[in-house]
Amino acid sequence: MAIRRIGVLTSGSDGPGFNPCLCAVVRMAISLGVEVVGVRRGFTGLMNGEFISLSARSVGGIVHKGGTFLGTSPSVEFAGRRGQMEALRNLNEAEIDGLIVIGGDGTMRGAQQLHELGFPVVGIPGTIDNDVPGTDFSIGFDTALNTALDAIDRIKDTATSLQRAFLVEVMGRKSGNLALMAGLAGGAEMVGIPEEDFELDDVARTITDAYVKGKAHCIIVVAEGARFNATAIADYLQQRREEAGFTVRMTILGHVQRGGSPSAFDRLLATRLGAFAVERLVAGERGVMVGLVGNEIVATPLAEVIAHPKAIDVGMFHLAETLAK
Ligand code: F6P
Repeated sequence: MAIRRIGVLTSGSDGPGFNPCLCAVVRMAISLGVEVVGVRRGFTGLMNGEFISLSARSVGGIVHKGGTFLGTSPSVEFAGRRGQMEALRNLNEAEIDGLIVIGGDGTMRGAQQLHELGFPVVGIPGTIDNDVPGTDFSIGFDTALNTALDAIDRIKDTATSLQRAFLVEVMGRKSGNLALMAGLAGGAEMVGIPEEDFELDDVARTITDAYVKGKAHCIIVVAEGARFNATAIADYLQQRREEAGFTVRMTILGHVQRGGSPSAFDRLLATRLGAFAVERLVAGERGVMVGLVGNEIVATPLAEVIAHPKAIDVGMFHLAETLAK
């Protein structure tokens, strides 16, 4: 069946780069003679039929803006069969022949469900967590990493002045990817992530060692999904403050990491993935997610993408440990 009209939605958590991705989707579709309908508020809007017609002008002046101009909603709401049926009914009524979905692993699961129901779907990975298999980077990760890194650099300034240890908690849900890269790039003394187990005592020892070595600060980057988050570590260290050497402070970076103008890398990634996704959908490809592997834009079956969690680069973790001398 020829594709004459496509829908596009953003689902789950937003991230910097979703807007340039939407711009590329709309304009590539139009250049291929395909109409575009925007779905507001992700899968929730799909189930409620919240559709708006998009033109090249509708996506003007948004490439530098964070968030998603379509709005989004938690992708879990799409899990039920009833919701999926409503979505299909709305798509058929609006004469939409194919759908582009932008989001994280939960969104890719929703996309796979639609694919299994026979609707043509292509996914684009967008999440600051960078936890979606089938791509080296998801849209939003680079900007969030730079935001976290900027915060770590600033914290290091004040930590050094007052000779303190800092626990810096970084987002990432169940993944330690963002924390690992932020810790390595930020020269952290230790990185605590869910994928590599650690004890509270390891953190205490790292802080004491840094003090004894004569360091002017000690930065511990902790992923929010690690076995112990920053609050739990801070509570433990509070009981052992006599041995620490450094005074300890904690900063939870939180949602500041999700906002802001997308970096050049994220804009280019978003633009390339958005354009390629439309080309693949119009060319008849179904049930795939587009991603960046090496420097190639490739398509991977959604079934493969959602089969396993994305592993961290263990080599990078050991490098961070080795360099934290
Ligand atoms: O998936 C992106 C993310 O920012 C995670 O890093 C974080 O755990 C989660 O979303 C936070 O979700 P919410 O905005 O619903 O609190």
